[in-house]
Amino acid sequence: MKKLLIICFSFALIPSLSFSAGSMDLDEYIEGMNIKTSDVKSLQRGARNFFNYCSGCHTLQYMRYNQIAEDLGITEDQLMKNLIFTESAPQNLVMNNMLKEDGDRWFGKAPPDLTLVTRRKSPEYVYGFLNSFYEDSKSPTGVNNHVQEASSMPHVLWDIQERYSEEEYSQFLNDTVGFLVYAGEPIIEKRKSMGAWVIGFLLIFLIFSYALYKDIWREVK
Ligand code: HEC
Repeated sequence: MKKLLIICFSFALIPSLSFSAGSMDLDEYIEGMNIKTSDVKSLQRGARNFFNYCSGCHTLQYMRYNQIAEDLGITEDQLMKNLIFTESAPQNLVMNNMLKEDGDRWFGKAPPDLTLVTRRKSPEYVYGFLNSFYEDSKSPTGVNNHVQEASSMPHVLWDIQERYSEEEYSQFLNDTVGFLVYAGEPIIEKRKSMGAWVIGFLLIFLIFSYALYKDIWREVK
């Protein structure tokens, strides 16, 4: 019985240990991380960054263009001009023209869909990943990555990172990763404000139920 308990306990510990090891590696790459999903302007910039620098390779297969526009206060005109670079209509899902077979052939591994990436991996992982490319002449892409060793993604933000100051690059990443957090949970802001209302309701309810409790017990005595 004792052995069984020890085995169960060790299994329970494994995920927490591997998680803390993973997040420790990330620490030095996420110093400037400060994501604000309540900041609509930041999400708008993030959407612009995503469609300019990522959507050629990555899809958001569970999001529709017009849903993004509605949530982020973007007009249909701005949507067509600034975000849709394919033949898509506003009600279409955010897909691109890259076939999986081609992606596999070109990169060794097709670029994955990014709708749920911040939930599957974590916002810290994605921020750290985009912030930790380094030159490596042995790699086919000329770069390697500290967070995802031997990644087949090229450093598509190379030129931006070169031109921007550290602060500007960090803002760029906060906007872009913030947009991906929103894409992973489009109702995130509604959920948070709903939470405040529910707690408020429960507090008021508490006052009434306490008054009722007092009233009932007064009569019993
Ligand atoms: C030229 C094509 C290309 C572009 C453009 C591109 N990526 Fe990638 N990306 C890839 C490939 C290929 C992989 C798969 C890497 C691997 O697993 O080895 C990848 C992987 C990733 C991953 C890791 C996903 C995971 O599950 O581990 C993230 C996050 C990511 N990309 C984010 C972005 C973001 C954000 C942008 C825009 C700033 C972007 N990518 C632009 C090709 C691209």
